[in-house]
Amino acid sequence: MTLFESVFAGNDAVYGLTEGAINQAIEKYGADKAVSFPDTAYSLPCYYAVTGTKVGTLAELKDALAVVKTLMTREKRTNDVFMSGVATALCAEFIEVLKYIDGAVPYEAPCYGHLADAVIRELGVPLVTGDIPGVAVILGKAPSAQEAADLVKSYQSQGILITLVGDIIDQLEEVGYKTGANVRVIPLGKDVTAVIHVVSVALRAALIFGNVKPGDAATLMDYTMKRVPAFVNAFAPLNDVIVACGAGAIALGFPVITNQEDVARVPKSLICQKDISKWNATSLEARDIKIKITNIDIPVAFASAFEGEIIRRKDMQVEFDGSRVDCAELVHTCDASEVEDHKITVVGPEVDDMELGSKNSIAYVVKVAGKNMQPDFEPVIERKFHNYINCIEGVYHTGQRDMQRIRISKDAFAAGFKIKHIGEVLYTQVKNEFDAVVDKCEVIIYTDPAECTRIRHEVAIPIFEKRDDRLNTLTDESVDVYYSCILCQAFSPSHVCVVTPERLGLCGAVSWLDAKATNELDPNGPCQVITKERPIDENLGSYEDVDEAVKKLSQGALEHVTLYSIMQDPMTSCGCFECICGIEPFSNGVVIANREYAGMTPLGMTFSEMASMTGGGVQTPGFMGHGKHFISSKKFMKAEGGIERIVWMPKELKEFVAERLNKTANELYGIENFTDMIGDETIATDPETLVGFLTEKGHPALALDPMM
Ligand code: SF4
Ligand code: NI
Ligand code: NI
Repeated sequence: MTLFESVFAGNDAVYGLTEGAINQAIEKYGADKAVSFPDTAYSLPCYYAVTGTKVGTLAELKDALAVVKTLMTREKRTNDVFMSGVATALCAEFIEVLKYIDGAVPYEAPCYGHLADAVIRELGVPLVTGDIPGVAVILGKAPSAQEAADLVKSYQSQGILITLVGDIIDQLEEVGYKTGANVRVIPLGKDVTAVIHVVSVALRAALIFGNVKPGDAATLMDYTMKRVPAFVNAFAPLNDVIVACGAGAIALGFPVITNQEDVARVPKSLICQKDISKWNATSLEARDIKIKITNIDIPVAFASAFEGEIIRRKDMQVEFDGSRVDCAELVHTCDASEVEDHKITVVGPEVDDMELGSKNSIAYVVKVAGKNMQPDFEPVIERKFHNYINCIEGVYHTGQRDMQRIRISKDAFAAGFKIKHIGEVLYTQVKNEFDAVVDKCEVIIYTDPAECTRIRHEVAIPIFEKRDDRLNTLTDESVDVYYSCILCQAFSPSHVCVVTPERLGLCGAVSWLDAKATNELDPNGPCQVITKERPIDENLGSYEDVDEAVKKLSQGALEHVTLYSIMQDPMTSCGCFECICGIEPFSNGVVIANREYAGMTPLGMTFSEMASMTGGGVQTPGFMGHGKHFISSKKFMKAEGGIERIVWMPKELKEFVAERLNKTANELYGIENFTDMIGDETIATDPETLVGFLTEKGHPALALDPMM
């Protein structure tokens, strides 16, 4: 069979199945029955992205199938093959959505099936920063379970996100391989149609981050080809259905690598590689993915894929807990003569000397020296420790400063992991990432309890306090320049963040100090200096300098951006905002939802739905993405009256920001315990109940002018 015949036959087969399944469902439930995937604002995301039409019922699904049929032309041109591939993918989506009728939960662990919008937003930042350098879609059954595990491990240790479809899922279970979104190995489902759930991620990424208009299929495919670094690994034997799905992948720009020998080859797109141990290299080359190599001399793996790994009490060898005993982590700028490069010292017992399951003290001081080093960079480097230590396989880290908590697993211990290896990791990563400012680096790790107490109370805490004082005096008025950040342009080509001391980047990860450090580390990098010499309106936070910068950095897509208004020329959002706020007309206020919150808001929208109102680097007055810490800023919506507009937040977020927000409210308006006046999901999820609550509490927003 030629490639044409295979694809057409596979497409026809899937189409037939889909038609049958839809008719059967209509017979069973009636044509008006609602169909949808859970936790998405994009209906059937693939069909919506390709056609611009949202499907809501079985009758509409049937109409959609007729549209799919028009893609299934049977000329023998490349385009017919591609479009039949796309048609096959859309059919797969229809088959999958039928599994979710009536709120059914068709997938059980370890399989995920459909992935929520929230997952895509979470993947945004690491995809942008290259922390996730690629997305592998592995399909079928490997010749042996060991080969399956080896292949997955090879990608995992490069930080690549892996999705699995078919028998490989059982093969990994068989050898006890740990899977899950937290370690970036996501089993989708065992039927081949489950592959649509990763396509759905790629296409929603285009809508969310790329501002691609639903229905603009050409731009959509251009986006996935250029910006979604995915590829397919398909084990022999391939049947026509898999080949047809493969044609769909290729249409999106994702090369397919297989060990099937008699398959028609398409240069750079359909590649036969019989040796599975070479698939990793072949795939990366075909998709042009470059991996940053970090060679660290430790007995376990080190990769960003292990960042989300959790170590349970029963799997843990020892733990360190800053909330119970004295701990600290600290970067300390020293004179070059005081630092011996790559010296790592452990003062106190090693892991071998600690009791199994015991709670211990730990304090590490990373001494750095360099001509361009500034004490302002210390917290920037220190904040990366969490990420560095977490990337160690079998080691878990949370918290910061003197409240960190570390667990070392029994497996890591058995592999020979020692305290000194934490030093090795800190040394290597600091030198790698901060080479522009750090010339010499030395690490001292204290595990001796008395020494930890001394370091914590006499060295670290005084330094933290001094830093906090400095941070508190940093205001937008007190600095001479702001910074741009365009890191997210890899995904949202016209998005620009303007980062100021009182307004951090919307991802929550880039403060003004971070941006400043990034700029000095890499002067041609993502963060550029923006002067603020020509103010237009101080209340709105508009400047000629800022306008010029965003115009240039957005390649002309943006003309004006204000720093302090949500209504007039608000800052754009890429997609990776921690929170989103939107105006609530009945109370003259705004509602804020954080990404973790899955429930309903008084706007009648979930976080996902609010988020779909903005993003993609466009300005949408009335909705704005922002970081959590911005909520307690004196500059939050300053032009519209500031934080007294906040009428509702999820309880968890409210508790997270309470201390700082209450302080700001007190300073600005003399209100005590402002958060008590703000609604949450336990009080109201509809505007009427909310306004009732606000009236009872005398919330100041009710007396303000309407925003629209
Ligand atoms: Fe992206 Fe803005 Fe965060 Fe930079 S500051 S990484 S552009 S969200
Ligand atoms: Ni103490
Ligand atoms: Ni972003």
